[in-house]
Amino acid sequence: MELQIDRERLSRELDELGAISAEPAPVVTRVVFTEADLRGRRFVKDLCIEAGLEVREDPIGNTFARWTGSAPDIPAVATGSHIDAIPNAGRFDGTVGVLGGLEAIRSLRRTGFQPRRSIELMVFTSEEPTRFGIGCFGSRMMAGALPIAAGDKLRDPEGKSLDDVRRAAGFTGDLSLIPVSKEKYSAFIELHIEQGPTLEREQVDIGIVTAIAAPATLRIEIEGEGGHAGALLMPQRRDAFLAAAEIALAVESAAKATGAIDTVGTTGICDIFPRAVNSIPSRARMEIDVRDIDGTRRDVVLASISRAAEEIASRRNVTLRNELLNADPPASCDPGAVAELETACQTHGASYRFMISRAYHDSLFMSLIIPTAMIFIPSRRGVSHRPDEYSSPEAIATGALVLAETLSRLSRE
Ligand code: GLV
Ligand code: MN
Ligand code: MN
Repeated sequence: MELQIDRERLSRELDELGAISAEPAPVVTRVVFTEADLRGRRFVKDLCIEAGLEVREDPIGNTFARWTGSAPDIPAVATGSHIDAIPNAGRFDGTVGVLGGLEAIRSLRRTGFQPRRSIELMVFTSEEPTRFGIGCFGSRMMAGALPIAAGDKLRDPEGKSLDDVRRAAGFTGDLSLIPVSKEKYSAFIELHIEQGPTLEREQVDIGIVTAIAAPATLRIEIEGEGGHAGALLMPQRRDAFLAAAEIALAVESAAKATGAIDTVGTTGICDIFPRAVNSIPSRARMEIDVRDIDGTRRDVVLASISRAAEEIASRRNVTLRNELLNADPPASCDPGAVAELETACQTHGASYRFMISRAYHDSLFMSLIIPTAMIFIPSRRGVSHRPDEYSSPEAIATGALVLAETLSRLSRE
């Protein structure tokens, strides 16, 4: 039987998963280990079981759904992505790679195909950094790129430890069991929406990702002095928010100063305390995202932001705590896996182009332990991390078809 994606079913399942959210549709908010995340996980696991896959979870909730091949002991072929979603997100980031990956597997099963290598769908825990400040948490731990002790120390904004939160969610094993050995998998292919405008603008079906930009996150905590907004006169103030505001402008200047269009800097979080209109902010907590395809240039920007922050803090007489949460190198995709994607596109008449990923993905970490490549599909107007994020059912089905073809080739050899 011919390889065919069930487009209607896949679209329906994406809608159903999209409706599992802490906020009403069209907003998707599914932060790791919240009730919405746990319901999303249940939804995906049930579909995997229904598809005849064998489901297992690691101590941090990374989920693996396996179709055992005829040679079960040789390295498996994997695909997957994430289902957690940042606050005020859309329906397609991550989920297309999870439900599209599942449909790719189901489509192969429908043809009667029997893989030699096992094929596994991976659903990574907390690709988004929302709760614990660090992106790709699950895949990072799987790759051994986050020391167990560092993982143990993570806390959410309410001060709850990762350990308590994961245990409450039902994941209790020892964190030392998470890292995966390089011998277990022969390839990892992630299907994802582009989250940028290139494919739509150029009317190309598929982006074959060759490299992933290097992300970094800084957390800066500022302590000044609070007081009455009417009574404390301007010369006496040590306003933590004003220092934060200057630092945010320094982030913009440092990113622009490289002169490279590929350098980006964003202050996505700035929480102030006590948040009362008639009270001078005594504390501020910022989280700053800096990325570039060139890791060295990105590090120059990080250093420049830190220097500017020190200068601003000393001039404004506030104290500063500056913590680099992560500074990851860029990743290169595996040339062999990239070639397989090209063949798969050609086999099914899908137009394609090579591109880099400016967003990060679990592939950034899988590439450290498994030969990895990514399939991008067009995002309407390049919009992502917003409720109006959209990819058409046709585009998603094309991505899933190219994925299915690639999984069949990689699992045959
Ligand atoms: C992933 O969501 C990213 O921020 O690139
Ligand atoms: Mn995202
Ligand atoms: Mn994503």
